[in-house]
Amino acid sequence: MSNSVETMRWTGDALELIDQRLLPSKLVYQSCGDAREVASAIRDMVVRGAPAIGCAAAFGIALEALRRKDNRRADFEAGLERGFEVLAASRPTAVNLFWALDRMREALAAAPGLDPRQAAESLVEAALLLYRADIATNRAIGRAGAVLIRNGASVMTHCNAGALATAGHGTALGVIRSARDQGKRISVIANETRPYLQGARLTAWEMVQERIPVTLITDNMAGHVMRMGKVDVVIVGADRIAANGDVANKIGTFSLAVLASRHGIPFYVAAPLSTIDIAIADGSAIPIEERSASEVTGYGDIRWAPEGVSVFNPAFDVTPAELVGGIVTEKGIVTRPDAGKIRDLFKT
Ligand code: MRU
Repeated sequence: MSNSVETMRWTGDALELIDQRLLPSKLVYQSCGDAREVASAIRDMVVRGAPAIGCAAAFGIALEALRRKDNRRADFEAGLERGFEVLAASRPTAVNLFWALDRMREALAAAPGLDPRQAAESLVEAALLLYRADIATNRAIGRAGAVLIRNGASVMTHCNAGALATAGHGTALGVIRSARDQGKRISVIANETRPYLQGARLTAWEMVQERIPVTLITDNMAGHVMRMGKVDVVIVGADRIAANGDVANKIGTFSLAVLASRHGIPFYVAAPLSTIDIAIADGSAIPIEERSASEVTGYGDIRWAPEGVSVFNPAFDVTPAELVGGIVTEKGIVTRPDAGKIRDLFKT
């Protein structure tokens, strides 16, 4: 069993996050001491990936509570409220962020009579519970999804849905890890994932760390590589899944699903139930984050586009449910997802 990458660490009075902006050249942890610092880390992509953002936000609330544990209850609650607000405003698309903040609100509501010191302790416990549950959930997703990957398969993935994007193990990469742990020989094709290069920098790094054979391609090579017969299955993560099974994930996922369908290659999404937003009927209502032009006009200190050019930089796209062969969850695989099957997931 592998739990190779420790994306975040709780020290008791700080949250340490791998600064994912520096990977793969440097493995450095950034320390956060309150909700505002965690919100900045999420906004600035120190930590990214839907479940990881959710866990970090929960710890952000726990940190804010600890910082205010000597306040009077009214000040404690007012301070926490500002923490909830700043964290909720950090990034809009991954619903796990809002899901985790709701769980922390419930933990706060469950401690109405407690003094701030005790309430802070129960919020720390709630955040740790969420964090541990995420790892267990990802392992369950991995076990459920491993059947989709045969021995010797070549698996294409997009962006990074690995240990770095979660509390550990990963969702899409968790399925690959679990299949590997069952003794299957698997190779991975990692799409670079323009413009932020999560595939090249993060997925490739995770796979190299674990000696899972990985081949890096640029996004525009995917169709050619599929046509060459080099892809047996595509598996990606998700940032928000609507009630009908439409999937928002990293920009470029929709094109991959279309290409996979054209080539008769199975296309799967691996995600926990906390990524499903039952309140949103279909993908058209999912808020899509737009990020800075500088991510498209260059990278780091290098600029390749002329000054004055206008840029559109949506960070996510929506893949319609009809192109999704299955959603792998901790409760099993929902094949050919639709509203009824997704509703059933929450009943059992
Ligand atoms: O912008 P990012 O890097 O946060 O986007 C991440 C993704 O799109 C992932 O595929 C998704 O969050 C699933 S992570 C298990």
